[in-house]
Amino acid sequence: MSGNKLRLGVNIDHVATVRNARGGAYPDPLRAAKLAEEAGADGITAHLREDRRHISDADIDGLMEVLSVPLNFEMAATEEMQKIALRHKPHAVCIVPEKREERTTEGGLEVAREENRLAHYIAPLREAGCRVSIFIAADRAQIEAAHRIGAEVIELHTGAYCDAHAEGRFEERDRELESLREMSAFAASLGLEVHAGHGLTYDTVKPIAAFPEVMELNIGHFLIGESIFRGLPPAIEEMRRLMDEARA
Ligand code: PXP
Repeated sequence: MSGNKLRLGVNIDHVATVRNARGGAYPDPLRAAKLAEEAGADGITAHLREDRRHISDADIDGLMEVLSVPLNFEMAATEEMQKIALRHKPHAVCIVPEKREERTTEGGLEVAREENRLAHYIAPLREAGCRVSIFIAADRAQIEAAHRIGAEVIELHTGAYCDAHAEGRFEERDRELESLREMSAFAASLGLEVHAGHGLTYDTVKPIAAFPEVMELNIGHFLIGESIFRGLPPAIEEMRRLMDEARA
């Protein structure tokens, strides 16, 4: 994970979603993670949700054991998750908002309103050597708050941009893209490392990958879906190609 190359983190949560639909052992998220690694993923991302609807505690144990690339452990800011992260000490933790009833992570974290609590929450994670990332909307106040609490990384939520594109609301999409562009530059000017993700597809990845401040994209649902049709390595390789093309 060096230099200025845009990194691709592959999120394998939804391999576990398919496995859990039948409650058995396959498809195995660890096998997907190793395949993703071989196909050029720079990191593997997994979200241990409070309700364990996809990734399980045993998956995290396994990933820590088998991966050669860094694990980006996505977690809600709860005591339980902090204990798990401190036990494993993954390369990176990404703090995400989480509501039990939501289908996916619908918005960014409210850092500005919870500054004190989050500053105390992430301190031990940083001391343990984890790079702490905060998943937020492209919003100046949230970025400033993430900086003040001592996060090293922010991940910008690209969901609103991707939804607007998918639903043909192109003016709104372009406004979202412009905010993401401005806020990437603003965050980098504060010394934060900028990542981005959520909902990215072959159709939406290039404008985001072209922002020079963005260092890493985390992509899952689309890639796992696309792998049904072309296989996981080719699905990842095509994403990598589009990212490189955008960056060139
Ligand atoms: N980044 C973060 C912080 C996320 O919570 C998720 C979804 O778990 C992703 C990236 C990947 O989003 P998607 O699965 O829509 O590509």
